[in-house]
Amino acid sequence: MLHTVEQIAIRPMRADDVVLVEQMSADLSVQSLYYRFFAGVPVLPQGFLRQLRNLDHDQHEAVIAVCGGLVIGIAEFVRSADPSRAELAVIVADSWHRKGVARRLIGQLTPLACRAGVTDFEASVLPENHAVRNMLTSMFPAGRYGWHDGMLAYELPLRQDPASEPRHQARRPRWWRIAAHQVAAHYRERKVEQRERDLVGAASGLGRQVTRELNNPAVQCGVVRRQRFSSIRRPRLG
Ligand SMILES: CC(C)(COP(=O)(O)OP(=O)(O)OC[C@H]1O[C@@H](n2cnc3c(N)ncnc32)[C@H](O)[C@@H]1OP(=O)(O)O)[C@@H](O)C(=O)NCCC(=O)NCCS
Repeated sequence: MLHTVEQIAIRPMRADDVVLVEQMSADLSVQSLYYRFFAGVPVLPQGFLRQLRNLDHDQHEAVIAVCGGLVIGIAEFVRSADPSRAELAVIVADSWHRKGVARRLIGQLTPLACRAGVTDFEASVLPENHAVRNMLTSMFPAGRYGWHDGMLAYELPLRQDPASEPRHQARRPRWWRIAAHQVAAHYRERKVEQRERDLVGAASGLGRQVTRELNNPAVQCGVVRRQRFSSIRRPRLG
């Protein structure tokens, strides 16, 4: 039976989900596994599954995407030595690529990380992995990367520093930013499709800001809303 994206549920991982995660190997190519584990493994490694069995939901947290009784994706963070930072990793079953699963997984994982006191995700990415590079650039506009041992080492702030915004955004008037924020909230409530958002995004500067807000997981955990908009008084309408 064919399943659609509407039937996908995203939820925190439980210990008894490990069996389902293990079965995801059937829908993972060697390349996907290589991009995730940086090693030529034919299936999800036992060490990885063992770690999932011992999730403590503080140092190590995971959310899964479930559809038709199968796990089709998993996103995790593992806290680093500096407890305000955590390594982000995600993998999605091959037949579900490019359907917004990773975006939704990270969208749910990020608020959990914020609540656990994580301020920055880190991610190690192979330079040829354009899918995840595009994804991180679009989901974490304030993210940066450098080179480390032939890999790209991403730093992805979850709390945005307004001073680090691109200059043209910082110069926008307050009414403009309020408008973008309100349109983004409206879109989120109405669950407007990503493709439609991108069309609006391409059409205008305001639309681009709306798209940026919707794609920024920090907005979803309320951090940006508090930091950037709490001091702004709403204009009177009518
Ligand atoms: C990277 C990966 C997790 C993306 O999962 P996904 O569910 O297909 O991603 P989404 O559909 O949510 O797409 C999110 C964004 O990622 C980017 N993206 C995803 N796949 C892409 C591809 N094949 N080419 C270019 N960009 C891509 C796009 O910007 C996309 O947004 P858009 O569809 O609105 O343009 C998936 O390809 C995967 O599991 N790869 C193997 C494991 C891996 O590389 N993990 C990362 C290392 S931690």
